[in-house]
Amino acid sequence: MLRNDQMYMMRQTVWHVDYLVYVLARDQERGEKAYQEMQQQGCSNIRFHALDVSDTSSIDKLKTFIETKYGGLDVLVNNAGIMFGQSSNASFAEQARETVKVNFTGTLNVSQSLLPLLRPHARVVNVGSQLGKLKNLSLDLQAKFSSDDLTVEDLVSIMNQFVSAAETGSHTSSGWPNSAYGVSKVGMMALTRIQSRELAKSGKEDIVVNLCCPGWVQSDMGGAKAHLSVDEGADTPVFLALLPPGSPCGQFFFKREVIQW
Ligand SMILES: NC(=O)c1ccc[n+]([C@@H]2O[C@H](COP(=O)([O-])OP(=O)(O)OC[C@H]3O[C@@H](n4cnc5c(N)ncnc54)[C@H](OP(=O)(O)O)[C@@H]3O)[C@@H](O)[C@H]2O)c1
Repeated sequence: MLRNDQMYMMRQTVWHVDYLVYVLARDQERGEKAYQEMQQQGCSNIRFHALDVSDTSSIDKLKTFIETKYGGLDVLVNNAGIMFGQSSNASFAEQARETVKVNFTGTLNVSQSLLPLLRPHARVVNVGSQLGKLKNLSLDLQAKFSSDDLTVEDLVSIMNQFVSAAETGSHTSSGWPNSAYGVSKVGMMALTRIQSRELAKSGKEDIVVNLCCPGWVQSDMGGAKAHLSVDEGADTPVFLALLPPGSPCGQFFFKREVIQW
């Protein structure tokens, strides 16, 4: 939410006291500019590292960097996202491919790479959207996405089915909405629920993963007419990044509250 940032990592020894935040951006120049602006505003515990979530070698470099330099991380915010505007000339098939690749597959690949580095009490915040509600899908698809037995492999296969249906123009007749962005965010929520189950089984102490909608925010994506400032949009993601032990896990949050998916 903070200009060019995609994700923040905090290295904490005591809540709110000793931490380091990494601003990650795919464009080195813009990322460094955002980082420098934040430093000038007095944020001395900010650093920058490049990351393109759609490039697995870029994700690998980040993982190696964190592992080598810090040995783990305490907070991961998966914020990177794209949405084709209404005036876009891209075909729906292209929109589906690209949007699923960045929003869903990017989040999945970053998570699979970095979740093993989470320390006890870590927090993961996936930034979704209320455009990614289950009710926008057919009942059959709703059941598949919300199944408690859904695995990552199943989910990837379902998301690929959406892209294939978009390519043949059969997505609406197959129960999908006409919004690649919405489907990508449905996939992110299903992923959040799987991650919650897997982290609980992993035996790691008190790791909490949730998804939130930041609201309609005045960012490049949200535009100037949006209701919320960037700082207001960052409120729920930051709230989730600092949840105390025993907090809800695998849930959909909006305005700091759990809402129905
Ligand atoms: N704004 C809203 O009203 C709103 C509402 C609901 C949900 N959200 C969600 O909130 C999150 C943040 O959105 P925003 O409003 O801040 O949008 P934004 O202004 O468009 O920012 C999105 C950021 O994601 C980055 N990004 C895109 N593709 C990437 C990639 N392959 N690798 C790394 N970074 C990539 C963009 O980098 P570049 O600058 O290089 O393009 C940009 O900095 C998104 O997940 C969005 O879906 C936003």
